[in-house]
Amino acid sequence: MPKKLRLGIVGGGGDSLIGILHRVASQINDNYEIVAAVFTPDFENNMGFAQEIDMPLNRVYRDFDIFVNEEMQLPESERIEVCAVLTPNFLHFPMALKLLENGFHVICEKPMTTSLQEAKALQEAHKEAGTVFALTHTYTGYPMVRQMREMIKAGALGKIHKVDAAYYQGWVNTVIHHEAKRTAVWRLDPEKAGISSCMGDIGVHAFNMLEYTTGLKVESILSDFNYLYKENTMDIDGTVLVRMGEYVKGVIRASQVATGEENGLTIAIYGDKAAFKWEQENPNFLYMLSDTEPTQVYKPGHAYNSVLSLDGTKLPAGHPEGIFDAMANIYKGAARAIRGQIYNEGEFPTMLDGVRGMNFIEATVESHKKGNVWVNLE
Ligand SMILES: NC(=O)c1ccc[n+]([C@@H]2O[C@H](COP(=O)([O-])OP(=O)(O)OC[C@H]3O[C@@H](n4cnc5c(N)ncnc54)[C@H](O)[C@@H]3O)[C@@H](O)[C@H]2O)c1
Repeated sequence: MPKKLRLGIVGGGGDSLIGILHRVASQINDNYEIVAAVFTPDFENNMGFAQEIDMPLNRVYRDFDIFVNEEMQLPESERIEVCAVLTPNFLHFPMALKLLENGFHVICEKPMTTSLQEAKALQEAHKEAGTVFALTHTYTGYPMVRQMREMIKAGALGKIHKVDAAYYQGWVNTVIHHEAKRTAVWRLDPEKAGISSCMGDIGVHAFNMLEYTTGLKVESILSDFNYLYKENTMDIDGTVLVRMGEYVKGVIRASQVATGEENGLTIAIYGDKAAFKWEQENPNFLYMLSDTEPTQVYKPGHAYNSVLSLDGTKLPAGHPEGIFDAMANIYKGAARAIRGQIYNEGEFPTMLDGVRGMNFIEATVESHKKGNVWVNLE
């Protein structure tokens, strides 16, 4: 067994949503050891949290710049090799950039940056650095999503002609109707979230799922947003028509005010032979539909699954694995890449997915603002 990779973490403190997912996922396949961190900008809180999770305090830093500088002073055999960036969106770019410039591998949360321009600058820095960059579009780590990708690649659906991806949440209902509450949430603050809330936070996952599973690229989009209130400048609901080719069309639907919805990410891909349907809240069931045959249900861990799918399952069939395991699969793929081992390109989303995602987010805002017009992606 190779030595564990020395992992640093920025963001993801005890007060965060995503921190626990990364901490647990990074441990699941025994590839990483968390050795250094800035969990939060409040140093007392930072140290308190490090104590709570029983992490050595000598490499818990006051802020990100000190973190990088101090780590660079350590011998290469001790300093972090890879760093997870789990801060609010506006910090992804400066942090990932500095990490790449100092020769570290990066595991970064989505959306990769707050603009396409930043995304391209990061892409350039990544080329220079030559290190590994993994973007945590978590849902690509589910075994049944990987199965969809591999079966579609092998032609199981025939020619794809219709795609439909939705990500529906309802939580913004609890803040959007009160101006004071609304402005206190970073996801609704353009300074911190970027130009979009709904498309940037969750629409981009649906977009990524369409490209990941079909292997096709979204060529153009037309969007219609709902802001609900005049004073609210951030989209909280939107419908996006997508074209992935002359005869491959569909829709991305995303909402943060879909009352009662939790993490309703669903995807349906229709081809001339068959179709796939999958939903995040029941991730271990992949439905294959046909006009002439009964519906088939694929499940993880069976020998009929692809190598990529089986690589993402740890237990015998029938033991439900979930979101922690999906994220762990991305960490596992990134570990292989960092160690220079052979890996399948479907094992983790990359810099290119990050650039595509930012292109999509900006295009949806442009389309809506110009009066719901078609906008081409680059
Ligand atoms: N992959 C997914 O499915 C998924 C799910 C949720 C969130 N996310 C992404 O993860 C990121 C974080 O989201 P969240 O919901 O955990 O946010 P959050 O507000 O819950 O947590 C952010 C954390 O970052 C810390 N932080 C803020 N500024 C910092 C700084 N300068 N230095 C160090 N730490 C700092 C905060 O103290 C907090 O602990 C976002 O970019 C979000 O889009 C991704």
